Amino acid sequence: MRSAADLPRALNAGPYELQMRSEAHRRAAIDALSLNDDVARWTHVPFPYGDAEFDAWLRIGDSHYVILEDGRLLGSVGAALSPESLSAEVGYWLTEDARGKGAATLALGALCDALFGAGYERLSADVLAGNPKSERVLERAGFRFEGVIRSVYSPRCGLSDERKDQRRFSRLVTDAPAKPQARKDVVAAPVVNIRAALASFSELWSPRVVGEVNDYEVRVAKVAGEHLWHSHTETDEFFMVLSGRLSISVRDGALDAKRERDVVLEEGEFFVVPRGIEHRPHSKDGAAILMFERRGTSSVGDYAGEVPEHIDVTRGHSLKKRST
Ligand code: NI
Repeated sequence: MRSAADLPRALNAGPYELQMRSEAHRRAAIDALSLNDDVARWTHVPFPYGDAEFDAWLRIGDSHYVILEDGRLLGSVGAALSPESLSAEVGYWLTEDARGKGAATLALGALCDALFGAGYERLSADVLAGNPKSERVLERAGFRFEGVIRSVYSPRCGLSDERKDQRRFSRLVTDAPAKPQARKDVVAAPVVNIRAALASFSELWSPRVVGEVNDYEVRVAKVAGEHLWHSHTETDEFFMVLSGRLSISVRDGALDAKRERDVVLEEGEFFVVPRGIEHRPHSKDGAAILMFERRGTSSVGDYAGEVPEHIDVTRGHSLKKRST
């Protein structure tokens, strides 16, 4: 097993600079955190916050950074390291007026890159239930939802004594690379027209990514003839027929190798192939289909043999801009 190395003293995060927190940041950090209890409500950061709390922060290991914009402290991103298991739990906070511009996402992305670069393999984060904006930061930084840790009583809830659920997210070094990005401009976001998307390409069995939902991609494809038997151990697969007719042969080798069925989907019908189930899509007369796929899912799943030329082995192509 690899071992973890030290983290850099400074990191770049787009327009933001990350500096390993030090004595130099005492006044700015206390100013940022002593104004209100909003950060403490959702994180491990204590409240009230003063010199004693900053001293305690200095004593824990060198894995915490302040986020700076033109020298002004906007917040912090950091990790509790477990070098023996090459894992780390990340956390972050921003002052109220620094939120909504993607700073946390970019800072977290830079921290993840540094941790992976230092040899860490598993990064996790727990978000108290009821904080969807924090969850969006994680998802935009490439984290996936893992599950709910139910009814946790944690010092971070020190502002109230009620039990709360925590929602756990993780990102592995082996996950598809994240695309940390600033918040999308929803006011300017275009509507997606599926017919136009389908008209922009003609290749068969070659899915195009037309949108994203959390860490899932919306893909469309044109199909005709036969795909090959394969399965996806990590993810379910959603198929919906937009036009034509699609058949999906499915078999469950774990139950009975001989049990096999042809699922026939007409226009407007959908079927979900559960993870781990072998399937073979085919369409005698052709079809246009829509799929929900976890980002990074291969079109041939775990199939390791030779792939016929008419099948595109892909994790989804981006939709090229139409020339007209
Ligand atoms: Ni599949």
